[in-house]
Amino acid sequence: MSSNELAREALPTKIKKKVKRALGPWGVFLEGFVRHPVMVGSIIPSSRFTIQRMLGPVKWDECRLFVEYGPGIGTFCQPVLDRLGRDGRLIVIDTNPLYIDYLRNSITDSRFTAVLGSAADVEEIVRAHGHDHADYVLSGLPFSTLPAGVGPAIAEATHRVIRPGGAFLVYQFSTRARAFMARHFRRIDSDFVFLNVLPAFLFWGWKSDTD
Ligand SMILES: C[S@@+](CC[C@H](N)C(=O)[O-])C[C@H]1O[C@@H](n2cnc3c(N)ncnc32)[C@H](O)[C@@H]1O
Repeated sequence: MSSNELAREALPTKIKKKVKRALGPWGVFLEGFVRHPVMVGSIIPSSRFTIQRMLGPVKWDECRLFVEYGPGIGTFCQPVLDRLGRDGRLIVIDTNPLYIDYLRNSITDSRFTAVLGSAADVEEIVRAHGHDHADYVLSGLPFSTLPAGVGPAIAEATHRVIRPGGAFLVYQFSTRARAFMARHFRRIDSDFVFLNVLPAFLFWGWKSDTD
């Protein structure tokens, strides 16, 4: 290849890099979406209204382990760490290595651990990090586009891993996740946030002693 051809080939890469730098974390999120649209399910991270509303009912003084599925570029991570006690832990699980690398490089809080893996394996992941249950699990997974069977399996494993009194927090563009949750959680509170792209349904599945 001639030097002219090499220069022509390098140009789109240079432009891509410039655009990504200009977009900052949003560029990383967008790149993750372009590579795995079905798994990511959204082109824009959650709004601050969704974050505030979703985390509102959490009893932070009773939370030792908070688990998040599908953190993406970490829209919820800092707000969770800001509310979590000093001895609390946040474990996030994502299947996308681009997001996990980004989070490991950008969040240095010693209470934070980013795991490359599937939410379906939450019980093994929680045990491998020295815990026998989670107090709260938050999910940003796109339940309506996940491969068949994955959503129900995740809801079941999540119900097992949460301690009685804890909750499964879910935000979604559709009500699909609620049906998966309802098989395991008897009490589900719900809400709707209009100021999000797209507007989001919020669900809190509370685990009781008799669930
Ligand atoms: C809509 S994005 C969530 C973005 C972010 N939480 C926010 O609020 O802006 C969905 C995320 O779920 C991840 N994901 C998809 N399937 C997964 C699975 N089985 N286990 C863990 N993460 C998964 C994707 O890689 C992506 O990061």
